[in-house]
Parts: sequence; structure tokens; C-alpha cells
Amino acid sequence: MKIQNVENLSFKSIRYRNSLYMDKDGVVRTTQNTTQVRPDLDCRRLAKVIRENFAGREKINIMPMNCSDLTEGYAIASAIIDEFGEDEAKKRFFPIQASDVDEFMIDKFAKKGLVALDNWDTMTIGEENIKKYFNELPDDTKFPLNDSFFRPNSKKFQAKDEFRSLFEVDCVDFQKRIENLDDGGNSVVLITNCLADSFGLDAENVINSLSDKLKMGSLFVTGLYDRINLPELRYWLKNGDFLEISPRIFYKNSSIKPPRIVIAFQKLFKHLH
Ligand SMILES: C[S@@+](CC[C@H](N)C(=O)[O-])C[C@H]1O[C@@H](n2cnc3c(N)ncnc32)[C@H](O)[C@@H]1O
Repeated sequence: MKIQNVENLSFKSIRYRNSLYMDKDGVVRTTQNTTQVRPDLDCRRLAKVIRENFAGREKINIMPMNCSDLTEGYAIASAIIDEFGEDEAKKRFFPIQASDVDEFMIDKFAKKGLVALDNWDTMTIGEENIKKYFNELPDDTKFPLNDSFFRPNSKKFQAKDEFRSLFEVDCVDFQKRIENLDDGGNSVVLITNCLADSFGLDAENVINSLSDKLKMGSLFVTGLYDRINLPELRYWLKNGDFLEISPRIFYKNSSIKPPRIVIAFQKLFKHLH
């Protein structure tokens, strides 16, 4: 179906906060205007896990691969700065390489730094950080989506240029990104709250490709929504040599299993101690 005049579309679908937009080829797509710091992703905990996991590693690539309007990315970046301080964070973690397949959210929100944050988001990111990294916009500022899309009592913000410069933002399917991933055991890949939805995805295949591409030491982060609605996820991750080291944070273990004789010796050695 091709719709020529996107302005005529009603931007709200009945189910939940999906909307329609027309991509560059004139194809109508749905967007999921997620504008929320998820309660399930504790970015401060993630920053601490990153500290432990990558101790001694110089450069770490943080890749939120379905970042939507980038709210999640902002929460992670501010938690990383809180944990490591600005200088170290800039050297080791930035730019955060964020992407989403949704052209509308990437072009109209993420690349422009526009977000609508409610009290929960402000509390999660921290009031001081909000003041430091964002400019509050007047309530009547026109956003690319109608106000009814945002949660009640949300306020409109725009990320400051310096904060925005900590991100590289791209419109790309995460299946493509994973295919082209060249990991050195220093990646943090986030695909949160999406694998359980179909989106025409083969979620098992996504996990298998991740398992092939991520080297030992890298991390994969998923969301509570996926965990609840896709019970097989845990099993696929385990099969792909991922260990859950903190809720929904998975460590990529070696996919090369030591020979049985080595395992037997390891067990014996453990037993003797
Ligand atoms: C429910 S939102 C979650 C956004 C954010 N990660 C969060 O947890 O708040 C799902 C997002 O996944 C994106 N998505 C779905 N399939 C994708 C794909 N194949 N590649 C990249 N992004 C995808 C959607 O465009 C949407 O922005």
C-alpha cells in the first residue's frame, strides 16, 4: 500500500502508541514512538557491570540497536558519565553508537535530540543531569508527533549539542548491524523490548547471529518485556554461550568449549581445593 500524502493520515492507531509514517521510498510504515526510560533497565547497575566486566579495556562500544527516540541512550550515557567521570567516559565509551530501523523516530526525534520526559524519566536520569544535558522547551512547542502520544505530565526537552555529540545515530535494521559486527570482545549490544514482538523477526536467528559475532567478554542486554513474553529467549541465549551475570545482562562466554579432558582436570582441581 502506498499513501501519497502522509499529512492526511491519522497518526494514532487503536492498539497502542504506534503511528504511521512514510519512508523515503513512499512506503507507509508503523513507528513505535517509545519515549520512555524503561523502568526495567537500571542504567546505573549497567554502568557498574560495565566497569567490572571491562576493567583494563581501553575502548568499549556501546550499541543500543533499537534506540527509538534515544531516551534509553541518554539514560545510559548519563549513567556512564556518573560512574566514570566525563574524561574517562569520553575516552572509553563515547560515541555511543545508536540505531533503530524506524526512520521517523531516528530523523525526527533521535537526530534532533527531542524527547518528552515525565517525572519518572527525570527521576531516573536525575534532575541535575536533566538540567546539565537538556534544555526544557515551552509546553506549546510543536513536536513531530501529536502531544497525545506522550505520557501525561510529560515535559518537552531538547538534548544540548555537547550531549548530542556523544552519540552517533543511524537508521539501520539490527539484523544488518549484527551481520556486519566486527567485535573484539569489547561490545555492549542492547536490543531491548522488541524481540518478543514479531516485527517480521526471527528472534532465535537474531540471538544465533549475535552468538556468532560477539567475542568472549562482550555483553548483550535485553528487556523485561522480552523476558516475560518470549520465554525461549533464555534458552536460546544459554545455547549461544551467554551467561546472565545481572538481570537481563548477558556475558558472552567462549563458544570454543575446552576439551573434555581439560574440563575433567578443572573439576578435579576445584575438588582438591
Ligand atoms: C518497544 S520499542 C523499544 C525501544 C527501546 N529499546 C526501549 O526499550 O524503550 C521497539 C523498538 O524496536 C525497533 N525495532 C524493531 N525491529 C527492529 C529492527 N529489525 N532493527 C532495529 N530496530 C527495530 C522499533 O522501531 C522500536 O523503536
